[in-house]
Amino acid sequence: MTKILSAVAWPYANGPRHLGHVAGFGVPSDVFSRYMRMAGHDVLMVSGSDEHGTPILVLADKDGVTPQELVDKHHSTIAHELAGLGCSYDLYTRTTTANHYSVAQELFRQVHANGYMIEQTTRGAISPSTGRTLPDRYIEGTCPICGYAEARGDQCDNCGNQLEPTDLIDPKSKINGETPEFIETQHFFLDLPALADSLREWLEGREASGTWRPNVIKFSLNILDDIRPRAMTRDIDWGIPVPLEGWEDQPAKRLYVWFDAVIGYLSASIEWARRIGEPERWREWWVQGAVPDAQDSYYFMGKDNITFHSQIWPAELLAYAGRGTRGGEPGPFGVLNLPTEVVSSEYLTMEGKQFSSSRGHVIYIRDVLERYGPDPIRYFICAAGPENQDSNFTWAEFVQRNNSELVAGWGNLVNRTGAMIAKNFGEIPKPGTLEPVDEAVRAATLKAFDTVGDLLANQRIKAAINEAMRAVGDVNKYVTDTEPFKLKGDDQRERLATVLHTLIQCVSDLNTILAPFLPHAANRVHAFIGGEGEFIPMPHIEEVNGLDAGDRDRTYPIITGEYSATPRWESRPVTVGAPIAKPTGVFVKLDEAVVEEELERLEQS
Ligand code: MF3
Ligand code: ZN
Repeated sequence: MTKILSAVAWPYANGPRHLGHVAGFGVPSDVFSRYMRMAGHDVLMVSGSDEHGTPILVLADKDGVTPQELVDKHHSTIAHELAGLGCSYDLYTRTTTANHYSVAQELFRQVHANGYMIEQTTRGAISPSTGRTLPDRYIEGTCPICGYAEARGDQCDNCGNQLEPTDLIDPKSKINGETPEFIETQHFFLDLPALADSLREWLEGREASGTWRPNVIKFSLNILDDIRPRAMTRDIDWGIPVPLEGWEDQPAKRLYVWFDAVIGYLSASIEWARRIGEPERWREWWVQGAVPDAQDSYYFMGKDNITFHSQIWPAELLAYAGRGTRGGEPGPFGVLNLPTEVVSSEYLTMEGKQFSSSRGHVIYIRDVLERYGPDPIRYFICAAGPENQDSNFTWAEFVQRNNSELVAGWGNLVNRTGAMIAKNFGEIPKPGTLEPVDEAVRAATLKAFDTVGDLLANQRIKAAINEAMRAVGDVNKYVTDTEPFKLKGDDQRERLATVLHTLIQCVSDLNTILAPFLPHAANRVHAFIGGEGEFIPMPHIEEVNGLDAGDRDRTYPIITGEYSATPRWESRPVTVGAPIAKPTGVFVKLDEAVVEEELERLEQS
């Protein structure tokens, strides 16, 4: 057994989730975590809403609400959407908790005490009318290199050059069009060069393991070559106060949103432990040597997040432990584990174009859940998501995969198995002697535990579901080969019993194998084949109070769950004599008209 930390990227609390948000890492991280629990590992799966940062502030201003009101609303929406998809977090929380503030501040303080936060004066843009800083990407102007009129303060999308806001000709605020003013301002920079050797050593070790996706390890090693100090504070009034004398009370100096967000993995683990009443338990996943078991951590994200997980977060952890050229001591949390795996996905487009909430080219998770339920979309994401290369969602492919793979493949196998047993025996029959054809299908199904399991353990979700569906195909072929529907009369009754028993045993095994991908369907199938209770545990929403003086009085939703009853990744003998009724549609066939309907919805918005 290994302690597995399953760390899923924190969605910005800036709106409801669309398919693009959950396809790359939301569903895959759940499939992986469910499998690792089934394989007998002790999984801690955490995430939450990322609630700080300029975009949220800008959006709140636009909507005429406070940033806290804005994130309260979106956090709740997102939590319900992720729970609806069946994402089995031990804790899905948020970054505006007092617990998170104090953990983030503790990290900052120790990193600073160890000498890795350097104070520097820089030039920053502010809005003359509000006095607020304008982040680089909110400044627009003419590119001094190519003359493109809509270059941003961080880069020009036309010629691709990196820019400073002061380079732009005729700079303007994208928020209100005014000309920014440039002022001198003090900030703390994380001394990444002082951590570069330790980062390299760690990354080279990870490269040697050969387990990272090639693009991810290559990119991560590459960015080490021009590593520079990076500002970890901002001139902004929405965020976590800088926990140092002289800074703490400044209303417009806050920690950089990315400095705090990645700490969420740790603070959420601590919050989880506090909520179950065992406040030190988080150490089992985080602190080297806290338990005799092996400890591995898997971080799931989209590719635009790689820098923060393979450089900034490990650098924060190394600096906290005093493991850079400036030396230092670990803080009270101890020496914390660096990521074992940085699992990054590519992008998903829809009908050939980028998702865009503002342009209405979008499909929201809540709508998919309401119209089609969670498993058809989980299936699409697993089978055709952007795991290793960009991929494209089309409604036509969604309907086709649902109808020909889920309904006609797996659903039909379950239905006809159940129907034949219900009609002929009413209960699971006792088998006679197995023939070679029966032995062969049993062997093929059992082998799928190994092949699918190995792929899942390596986060190869797409290949894993392909193998699982191939095993479904083998069993459908067994029905064709043995023709149980033609086995009539008393002299063939024992043969019929053998075939149907073999069949339902295969269905039971395939249901176990498909459970990480299709957990809701797995619970329905389990009931059809005579199983009792819930087969694979589901997450739920709980309305909780904050844990500390600062937020004990507010309540907010979290996702949590009790997953200890997760079934093992193994064959379970079906119970001879268990009553079987005719199943009713495990999956629903979708009308082809759905494609037109959905495309029309897209055009209207
Ligand atoms: N909110 C970020 C995004 O959506 C992801 C943050 S991941 C975290 O890109 F670990 F930093 F929280
Ligand atoms: Zn340019």
